[in-house]
Amino acid sequence: MPDKMDLKDIIAIGRTLDEYSRMFDLRFTQLKGASILDMGGGVSSFTAEANELGLNVKSCDWIYGFTAEELEKKCVSDLGVMLEKLPAIRDNYRWDFYKNEAGLRVFREKAYKTFIEDYKKGRSNRYIKSELPFTVFTDKEFDITLVSHFLFLYDEHKDYNFHLDSIAELIRITKEEIRIFPIVNLRWKKCGFVDRIINEPEFGKCRMEVKKVDFEFVKGGNEFLSIKP
Ligand SMILES: C[S@@+](CC[C@H](N)C(=O)[O-])C[C@H]1O[C@@H](n2cnc3c(N)ncnc32)[C@H](O)[C@@H]1O
Repeated sequence: MPDKMDLKDIIAIGRTLDEYSRMFDLRFTQLKGASILDMGGGVSSFTAEANELGLNVKSCDWIYGFTAEELEKKCVSDLGVMLEKLPAIRDNYRWDFYKNEAGLRVFREKAYKTFIEDYKKGRSNRYIKSELPFTVFTDKEFDITLVSHFLFLYDEHKDYNFHLDSIAELIRITKEEIRIFPIVNLRWKKCGFVDRIINEPEFGKCRMEVKKVDFEFVKGGNEFLSIKP
């Protein structure tokens, strides 16, 4: 880990509440009244949209040390780069949900624009600057923790020990359930760490289960890992 993280070290691409609901198979009646954490929430609009609907959601990411203006600049530039690179790899994705690049752009723009507006208003109470594997949260502070497109995905950059420590930390701060989506890596293959985590003796008391969902963009990326501490 470098001494000082730089915005160039991340990709500021975010997803919306609609996509989170599909990826994590979220039922709003179950979420009402629960304390929810979006770990590695980045520039997703899930926190903004969910709070607007009356849910109690916080987001955690190390990028929340940056200003709205700095993050917005990075969002615009990363979305451009991502869409430029997409045609060469588009066959690795299923297009039934977004239809095409223009459809994908609509979702990604909605996510970052909604995030930026909410970040300007609610930075201090909804967006917490902290990072895995060791966070600022207290034991069992959240009922439910969601992790989208962060753990397992970057297994080339974050090693097994990082995943082990991070999941132990998520178990420490979560009461009912942790959901991690997807469980494939950037090479479009199931991440080898998933089965190792499931079989870790230190997590023996947790109930772990891979669950299929009705949402697949990266081919093969239609499962999340559920961990019940
Ligand atoms: C690809 S983005 C996904 C953003 C969001 N979860 C979504 O799906 O729209 C991955 C996020 O993980 C964050 N991240 C990277 N390392 C982290 C760490 N050690 N702790 C918490 N967040 C981290 C990045 O800053 C980035 O915002």
